[in-house]
Amino acid sequence: MYAERVLSGMRPTGSLHLGHYHGVLKNWVRLQHEYPCLFFVADWHALTTQYDDPRGIVNAAWDMVIDWLAAGVDPVRATLFIQSQVPEHAELHLLLSMMTPLGWLERVPTYKDQQEKLENKDLSTYGFLGYPLLQSADILIYRADKVPVGEDQVPHIEFSREIARRFNHLYGREPGFEDKAREAVRKLGAKRARRYEELRTRFQQQGEQAAIGLAHALLDEVPGFAHVDRERLCGYLEGTGKMILVEPGALLTEASRMPGLDGQKMSKSYGNTITLREDAASVTHKIRRMPTDPARIRRTDPGEPANCPVWQLHQVYSDEPCQAWVEQGCRSAGIGCLDCKQPVIDGILREQAPMRARAQPFLEDPKLVREIIGDGNSTARRLARETMRDVRQAIGLDFS
Ligand code: TRP
Ligand code: SF4
Repeated sequence: MYAERVLSGMRPTGSLHLGHYHGVLKNWVRLQHEYPCLFFVADWHALTTQYDDPRGIVNAAWDMVIDWLAAGVDPVRATLFIQSQVPEHAELHLLLSMMTPLGWLERVPTYKDQQEKLENKDLSTYGFLGYPLLQSADILIYRADKVPVGEDQVPHIEFSREIARRFNHLYGREPGFEDKAREAVRKLGAKRARRYEELRTRFQQQGEQAAIGLAHALLDEVPGFAHVDRERLCGYLEGTGKMILVEPGALLTEASRMPGLDGQKMSKSYGNTITLREDAASVTHKIRRMPTDPARIRRTDPGEPANCPVWQLHQVYSDEPCQAWVEQGCRSAGIGCLDCKQPVIDGILREQAPMRARAQPFLEDPKLVREIIGDGNSTARRLARETMRDVRQAIGLDFS
């Protein structure tokens, strides 16, 4: 079986903010310790909506990679790369497009939603309709089984599963599959072969789902068992033929609770953000200017934290004693709003300090970032080429 592998991509939208950090990047940093991870800049995806003004994409990509590194994404643990530098994504996208029913794409909920949301732009394009299919190619080309995404992206992961299933169904049967599968069963040795056949029967005749997991575990234990044979037996087990593309699953990223400067969710489109590496003076200025409980007009008016966006930031950045100090001091008018904001300012600056420090060498020497991405591009290409070789072979377009 393929090693568990995590893959995720981000469109290069410019400097990332603390909402990205608390929502996505902290999660990536954690995952890189648990799985082999691939993280990439989805520059072609940016082009689906920015085709009329692509000039900013490259700079936004470099800035974004520095933000990833600043947040603690570790290029030694994770492979960082740029989508357009692995042209195999485009080849898989094209091949998959041949077998993708138009209706499937039209029914992806983000298609109509985004078109309506960005109504001042002509998005009745071929590329935009194909957005989820390009995303499927991104995922399937690495046989990634775990894709960390936010809720909005779940339909795209589901779509990718359907594409993988359709591909395996259409092309998964190699000539002489049954014979090859039976031959592979013999290679298991008598005892394991008997157990495998029993599990296969239990699944195919009694529909026992658990038998699949047991059989996969059995196959994992066979010393030196060839990868192709294992794949054949996975397919034979379920009656699907050979599994060429792996069906991915979403690793749902919990919605970020990160509030912005106005109490709404932090988001570039609301203009209420603090960027990851924003300088201290600007952070201080923004927090000091934040609106507070509208009922606290004068310093002597008591307030209610529940009605104040600053309080929401205390939930992210302050410990219990500080929160108790805020609640008590606000309701009794014992503290002023600027006093109350100081611990939030301190908390944000404390969080940003290590990010600034990690970014520094990359800002001083941009070559370092180019090297990391160059290495990542090569690693990704190597993996992508392996899948493409199998894909071409399965379709039969193999001229070698
Ligand atoms: N569509 C994703 C987004 O907007 C970005 C993306 C592109 C992606 N390809 C991907 C995410 C592959 C996960 C896997 O956030
Ligand atoms: Fe908001 Fe703090 Fe002012 Fe109360 S004291 S209104 S919580 S900023």
